[in-house]
Amino acid sequence: MPSPVKNVVLIGFMGTGKSTVGKLLAKSFGYHFVDTDDLIVRRAGKPIPQIFEESGEGGFREIERAVLDELASEGSRIISTGGGIVTAEDNIERLRELGTVVWLTAEEESIWQRVGRSRGRPLLQTDDPRETIHRLLEERKPLYEKAAHITVGTDNLSAADIAFGIAECLRAEAGNVSPER
Ligand code: S3P
Repeated sequence: MPSPVKNVVLIGFMGTGKSTVGKLLAKSFGYHFVDTDDLIVRRAGKPIPQIFEESGEGGFREIERAVLDELASEGSRIISTGGGIVTAEDNIERLRELGTVVWLTAEEESIWQRVGRSRGRPLLQTDDPRETIHRLLEERKPLYEKAAHITVGTDNLSAADIAFGIAECLRAEAGNVSPER
């Protein structure tokens, strides 16, 4: 199958389904799937909450940046990213150089329902996770917007529908993708 784009990079807030959708897209395109969080865990040799606990958010972001740099050499991948990857300004350009950047959006309420009580997300272990989600979303929206080539809403849609919608967008852009549903 001809390559529609160099890579497809999924960005968006925690709980917008980047990994689930990314795996479906990878299957549909016959591309490799990579997840920057998985690469960070492998590189650090410890889970994300432990990285935050021992090295803080700054330590986590350093590894995230290094992992992103390493991804620059290859193509034909679906790359799912951590929700805060856009918070380092120069990552935005890096993401756009990797390929077509797709921003998965969701309403604050959906995000709260999906990840509000998650133990695996250190940034949400606050006294008021709902307010934290609100604040981080407000801070990050302009950054996602800046990074994105394509924006896709996810509310009330299944992962399969979202993946199909993205594939359609990419097909429209490239004119040569034939995803299987
Ligand atoms: C983070 C999101 C997480 C993970 C880390 C920090 C963030 O990834 O990278 O906990 O800053 O939003 P997901 O978006 O896959 O949950």
